[in-house]
Amino acid sequence: MGSPTVVVILGIETSCDETAAAIVRHDGEVLSSVVSSQAALHARYGGVVPEIASRRHLELVTPVVRQALEEAQTTFGEISRLAVTQGPGLVGALLVGLSAAKGMAWASRKPLTPVDHLEGHVASLYLGPEPLEPPFLCLLASGGHTLLLSIREHGRSERLGTTLDDAAGEAFDKGARLLGLGYPGGSEIDRLGREGDRDAFLFPVARVPGLDFSFSGLKTALLYKIRELGEGEMERRRPDLAASYQHAIVRALTARLHEAAERTGLERLAVVGGVSANSALRAALSSARFAPLHLCTDNAAMIASAARYVEPLPYPSYLGLDAYASVA
Ligand SMILES: Nc1ncnc2c1ncn2[C@@H]1O[C@H](COP(=O)(O)OP(=O)(O)OP(=O)(O)O)[C@@H](O)[C@H]1O
Ligand SMILES: [Mg+2]
Repeated sequence: MGSPTVVVILGIETSCDETAAAIVRHDGEVLSSVVSSQAALHARYGGVVPEIASRRHLELVTPVVRQALEEAQTTFGEISRLAVTQGPGLVGALLVGLSAAKGMAWASRKPLTPVDHLEGHVASLYLGPEPLEPPFLCLLASGGHTLLLSIREHGRSERLGTTLDDAAGEAFDKGARLLGLGYPGGSEIDRLGREGDRDAFLFPVARVPGLDFSFSGLKTALLYKIRELGEGEMERRRPDLAASYQHAIVRALTARLHEAAERTGLERLAVVGGVSANSALRAALSSARFAPLHLCTDNAAMIASAARYVEPLPYPSYLGLDAYASVA
């Protein structure tokens, strides 16, 4: 494990339906990253059921931490400090990770850093082997958020735009549901879209003022198109519908990103969050930086990464920390 002076961070993430733990060195090297997805558990309900998520986190958090330590070939004793997602997310789910982290830190007298989940997504770009350095313009597109951020330094972001209704990932998930695909829908649309013609249908990109986004009209347009086609034809044209719907989301995201680049003068572009795994978006923004695929959707390596840029809270001052569901 190297010299004992090397700072090693144990990150824990339980904000939604992934129970995750990771061991990250202070220089940004990921020693392990374990993600246990509950997606299959929630699939039959077509989305995440908060109470089921919390209970499953409770069962998984200790084994997942243990596995992260094992895979990093280290022990809890060698961990310098802990980092945990405090919010935003499902409060019950967050509380499981936060309580587990508090308990582990308290019992061992180690410091703890509460991390904002969205800062975590941005910090996925700061991990090795080729970390991105600020300043850059960042599109955060996930299941719950669509944000344009100006990142001038580590751990600080200025919000330039947000969605007025659905998040981009939500648009993928709702579209997938309309198309009769499984949950989570983004990767299903991505997969099916590769077999389809993206120009087969023209779905609208909402025009909203400033640098904001809107995706609810797009979902309605898909619904009307499906009704117009009828069940049999919809099934036959499913790949074309998926490709065209995806293309509309990609057009909306890339157009705003380029507008923001022009306005801010920030030349380097980056995309984070679950939607950054999308192959069409990656192809459309070939010059932008994307995190590796396994760090796009929720994981704990990004949480430990974000904790590298803030002073940790010393024992026992973190015991009063509470989780938060949404950004203030
Ligand atoms: N290949 C893909 N193409 C498009 N969307 C994708 C792809 N892979 C995952 N997604 C979408 O990413 C979202 C999940 O991302 P992530 O785990 O970052 O979100 P979240 O944690 O639920 O939300 P937030 O980070 O806002 O709290 C889902 O909406 C999913 O459909
Ligand atoms: Mg997320």
